[in-house]
Amino acid sequence: MDVTETQPRADQPLTALVTGASGGIGRATCQALAARRYRVAVHWAVNGDGARETLASLPGEGHLLVRGDLTEPGAPERVVSDAGDGLGALGVLVNNAAIATGPENRHHPAECSFADWSAAFRGMIDVNLRAAADVSYWFARQAIEAGHAASIVNVGSRGAFRGEPEHPAYAATKAALHALGQSLAVALAPHGIVVTSVAPGFTATERTADRLAGAGRERITAQSPFGRVASAEEVAHAIAHLADPASSWASGAILDLNGASYLRS
Ligand SMILES: NC(=O)c1ccc[n+]([C@@H]2O[C@H](COP(=O)([O-])OP(=O)(O)OC[C@H]3O[C@@H](n4cnc5c(N)ncnc54)[C@H](OP(=O)(O)O)[C@@H]3O)[C@@H](O)[C@H]2O)c1
Repeated sequence: MDVTETQPRADQPLTALVTGASGGIGRATCQALAARRYRVAVHWAVNGDGARETLASLPGEGHLLVRGDLTEPGAPERVVSDAGDGLGALGVLVNNAAIATGPENRHHPAECSFADWSAAFRGMIDVNLRAAADVSYWFARQAIEAGHAASIVNVGSRGAFRGEPEHPAYAATKAALHALGQSLAVALAPHGIVVTSVAPGFTATERTADRLAGAGRERITAQSPFGRVASAEEVAHAIAHLADPASSWASGAILDLNGASYLRS
């Protein structure tokens, strides 16, 4: 047997587009990839200061900013093409941008108005699922056309499995994102494109800082038997690991990153 048949493809460009990289897990992922010598396109929508801070924090050279509200028509295609133009070719896509959970978008079905319920579903489907699907489409098409290997890592959530009673739309869209990743893993494998997802539990980021500083801190940290939450760097480390061509046999996997706070069979 030719030994090359057992090796991952070696033609994946050392470049990455990370969506939603103005802070939090997106920023830590850019840093983890840049530390592994990737050139990174730092995507943002509204928080330009945060994105510039991410860019300035990256080791190495050749990184760039890409702006776009991914819910706007044509934006996913443009963001992928701007990133590809700037970096030469795109080897990695991290679908990290999302409308995450917070008090401002709580929509418990027994307590919220139908207008709030339906706004939460529309907004989260648009960003957490449809935008990720569209960015993945354009990313895959550029890799297929260029004929090189590539990998996509979706940032899903533990909530997809555990449920989010106060944010059902979030859990539903993250479950759909995991499922999208599994379909794409099968569809794109013949083109040398690897697709995985991570499912983090509660992670300390700017977005969760208030909840972690508040009265609910103990309840949150007690979710894990480690008695703490994840750092953004821990999540980013796993994303960078899955993005590496040497991890290609993980294609189709959904990796729990929740400190044993929720065990699924
Ligand atoms: N933190 C946690 O506890 C936790 C747990 C599980 C999963 N996750 C997932 O991890 C990822 C990052 O979480 P985080 O806490 O770091 O969140 P975050 O700080 O709220 O980051 C969300 C990012 O998404 C971008 N974004 C939002 N709407 C967008 C739109 N319409 N178009 C383009 N970009 C848009 C934001 O860009 P701008 O700032 O420029 O608007 C921001 O960079 C998310 O997918 C989240 O669901 C987080």
